[in-house]
Amino acid sequence: MNLPPHPLVHGLFDPATWTVTYVVYEKEGSACAIIDSVLDYDPKSGRTSNESADRVIAFVREKSLNVQWILETHAHADHLTAAPYLKAHLGGQTAIGHHITAVQHVFKGIFNLEASFKEDGSQFGHLLQADEIFAIGNLTVKAMSVPGHTPACMAYQIGDAVFVGDTLFMPDVGSARCDFPGGSAKTLYASARKILSLPDSTRLFMCHDYPPNEREVRFETTVAEQRAHNIHLHDGIDEAEFVRMRHARDATLDMPVLILPAVQVNIRAGAFPPQDDNGVSYLKIPLNAL
Ligand SMILES: [Fe+2]
Repeated sequence: MNLPPHPLVHGLFDPATWTVTYVVYEKEGSACAIIDSVLDYDPKSGRTSNESADRVIAFVREKSLNVQWILETHAHADHLTAAPYLKAHLGGQTAIGHHITAVQHVFKGIFNLEASFKEDGSQFGHLLQADEIFAIGNLTVKAMSVPGHTPACMAYQIGDAVFVGDTLFMPDVGSARCDFPGGSAKTLYASARKILSLPDSTRLFMCHDYPPNEREVRFETTVAEQRAHNIHLHDGIDEAEFVRMRHARDATLDMPVLILPAVQVNIRAGAFPPQDDNGVSYLKIPLNAL
């Protein structure tokens, strides 16, 4: 039997934003990719720090890995990416789905960004097309287009592992919200079914976990477990039922605490806005616009 490659996966959970950063690699000393990194941000002071990213760097060095890619599954609304910091310390190329240009267009308008802000994705090292194939050393990656939460969402399929981004969450949490600009519950349903059509034993790695009750944080599951138990998307739930549930639930959700800073930084691939003439970089808060 011809089994798909089984990459090694190290997940680092950030309790401040419920985000999981992954390092995926073939073996000690091999090439690796970092998926969905976190720059620590204190909204009270506007200060950033690098404890989360430094944990990633420590792991990469401990395993003697060579960073080829710093990937985002999408422009996150709940945390800032540490991609520039990781790239400066470890090298590697940043990449995101090419529909980031649509996200940049929407938010350039909402934040009334400087005229020179480009909506062409050129802030990223590489823009991935749907089904694009690329390599992490000896591992082959397929970029799966999985829009719905945002129009630019990508999942990364590497051997028997898929990094699903904000599509599915753990079975007892369900699915990602679809009420951000360009989001669509109907589209997310199709994206989730695409992931769930993979072989039962496929390992699925979540971008977040929001453990209910006393459950411990978990961020790895399988297609079989999701098809049997996902509270929003188990087998038998049709598109209409999912869309109804998602719309009702999204209407009850507050905006993520960090959406305003996160989006402004993440659509710049993690760069801060251009400094004012006093040398300080500022973020904007649009009143009554979101
Ligand atoms: Fe997200």
